Amino acid sequence: MIRHYIIGEPIETDSVVLNIPVETGEIPGFVLDPGAKTIRHRMDSEDVIYGLGETVRGMNKRNWLYISNNTDDYMHTEGKHSLYASQNFILVFSPRASFGLYVDTPGRVTFDLGYTDPDVLEIRLDDFDANLYLVQDSTLPGIAHEFRQLVGRSYIPPKWAFGFGQSRWSYRTEKEVEEVADRYQKEGIPLDSIYLDIDYMDHYKDFTVDEQAFPDFTDFCAEMKKRGIHLVPIIDAGVKMEDGYDICEEGRKGGYFVKDEDGNDLVAAVWPGKAHFPDFMKPETRKWFGEHYRFLLDQGVDGFWNDMNEPAIFYTEKHLNEVFRRIDELKGENLDIESFSELTSLVGGLSNNPEDYRSFYHTYMGKTYRHDKLHNLYGYLMTRAAGEAFRTLCPDRRILLFSRSSYIGMHRYGGVWTGDNRSWWEHLLLGMQQMAGLNLCGFLYSGSDMGGFGDDATEDLMMRWLEMALFTPLYRNHNAKGNRFQELSAFAHPERFRPIIELRYALLPYIYSEFMKAALRDGMYMMPLAFQWPDDRRAVETEDQLLVGESVMIAPVYRQNASGRYVYLPEDMMLLRMRSWNDYDEIQLSEGDHYVKAELGEVLIFIRKGHVLPLCHPAANTAALDYSTIRYICNGGCPEDYELYNDDGITPVKDPFRA
Ligand code: GLC
Repeated sequence: MIRHYIIGEPIETDSVVLNIPVETGEIPGFVLDPGAKTIRHRMDSEDVIYGLGETVRGMNKRNWLYISNNTDDYMHTEGKHSLYASQNFILVFSPRASFGLYVDTPGRVTFDLGYTDPDVLEIRLDDFDANLYLVQDSTLPGIAHEFRQLVGRSYIPPKWAFGFGQSRWSYRTEKEVEEVADRYQKEGIPLDSIYLDIDYMDHYKDFTVDEQAFPDFTDFCAEMKKRGIHLVPIIDAGVKMEDGYDICEEGRKGGYFVKDEDGNDLVAAVWPGKAHFPDFMKPETRKWFGEHYRFLLDQGVDGFWNDMNEPAIFYTEKHLNEVFRRIDELKGENLDIESFSELTSLVGGLSNNPEDYRSFYHTYMGKTYRHDKLHNLYGYLMTRAAGEAFRTLCPDRRILLFSRSSYIGMHRYGGVWTGDNRSWWEHLLLGMQQMAGLNLCGFLYSGSDMGGFGDDATEDLMMRWLEMALFTPLYRNHNAKGNRFQELSAFAHPERFRPIIELRYALLPYIYSEFMKAALRDGMYMMPLAFQWPDDRRAVETEDQLLVGESVMIAPVYRQNASGRYVYLPEDMMLLRMRSWNDYDEIQLSEGDHYVKAELGEVLIFIRKGHVLPLCHPAANTAALDYSTIRYICNGGCPEDYELYNDDGITPVKDPFRA
């Protein structure tokens, strides 16, 4: 059951697809304090809080402070409060009565989940205006399901998007891309996609291709596709300011850009230097921007990643001039601790500055809003622009689309990746934990940069990351400029990775089937153990294992130099210790604690009692998978009872909410 309450005069976000009548009166279990702009709930000592999508720390979000304020922060340490997304749904799992709460407001929201007072869940709104949805059901999967019905069906990518993808900032030329493909082919490692980061563009201009580097992009796309490889270019939010550049000119003429205080197009910098920012809040801007994806679609591209859409701002022109002025004043002074700190923070404070986010304006639903009031919608609506355009530009095929910044509602148009993580063991674990919150908020198609984006990956970290993410829908190796090359062929023993990637392909019938059933039925694809064993406290407190679909539990090794780990089994299970898709041990384990060995290159997959796991022969890419080779590993279950979903992986699946 869903109850809808309104506080103040909320700004509509279009994140909800059901029309739930508004209730007046108190919200059961909550105390509202309009003066303090808070909503409070007293927690039981055993209460566990799930949700909030992509955030730092574990799956149980209790005892930390999370601030919904989409931020381009490339240092995801556990002291942080905000990352790139605002996914304001929490599920309070309580022995009294569990419930979900969706706080639908595009401004800043603080979720104080026992940070100030360990017994109190307090939600603070910068503006006391919001749609609140209280979701009740007797089970955790039931609450998740009700919520997902409220916000609409999750985005479904093409099937090839579940294959392995290779990315780096950046492959600059045709030749570099070809070399990546060649090396994978030489090593016999399956591959479905290669990502094009900002350098494929002409001077970082959206909807352009550097013609020197890619002299015939259409031919090149076709040639790569013949090899089974899809090219996935990045699109950034900022539009380079340049006379004669069609997107910039059209945006200016059409009034499509956000405005500064004086009513001029905002000038702020990102990759190309000075840029304008599309006002994605306006339907006409979305239509205009969305249609430009055609430029790449027409050349054979069928996937995109939308980036820098918090939006990230290196500096605004106005702020930069102020900083230069102050630096001029400081020149020649003896810089003591105060003035030296001032100097460093002047420069350091240029990027993503809160004041800058209060200095420009949008037109939204016929009204003018200062950006910070709508901030968390920006990435969502950029991605909506693309998603909506695809429905008319290519109605017959699915297009891969995922975004860095997001808000609930965006999950209907695209997936997310979790941004600029690091080649750290703790981020390997974080990447898994974030999947629980993301699934709950509807972002089924998601994943983190495998191997880590920043810093240098070692061969063992890369291997463990590929193992951990074996079932993660987005399975992409990406890393940043300046760091050690991270293509699997760049390590000392590329051949050691082959069995893992092959295993991913062998598991694809299961991964795709379970993902699609979760998407089509508003269910969870990856979930914490509490969703299955709510009465087992040990299961509830398990933070490093996940359920994937109906048959599988994963328990990856995420510590350096470890050759095994402790696992908690809430029931008897069959352990598959897999060295490859056709070389594995089947071990029956009884409920309870176990130490299980898993050398580097060995994956631990647990099959639940009464369940089965389909496996097929691996292939060079998803299109080449042969379902007739599927066989089942059974732990008491019957293959005939397993509902194997499959389709052509290309044709859009009918959307019940937008026929
Ligand atoms: C941002 C993205 C990253 C990308 C880089 C260059 O940092 O998060 O994935 O590689 O920009 O485009």
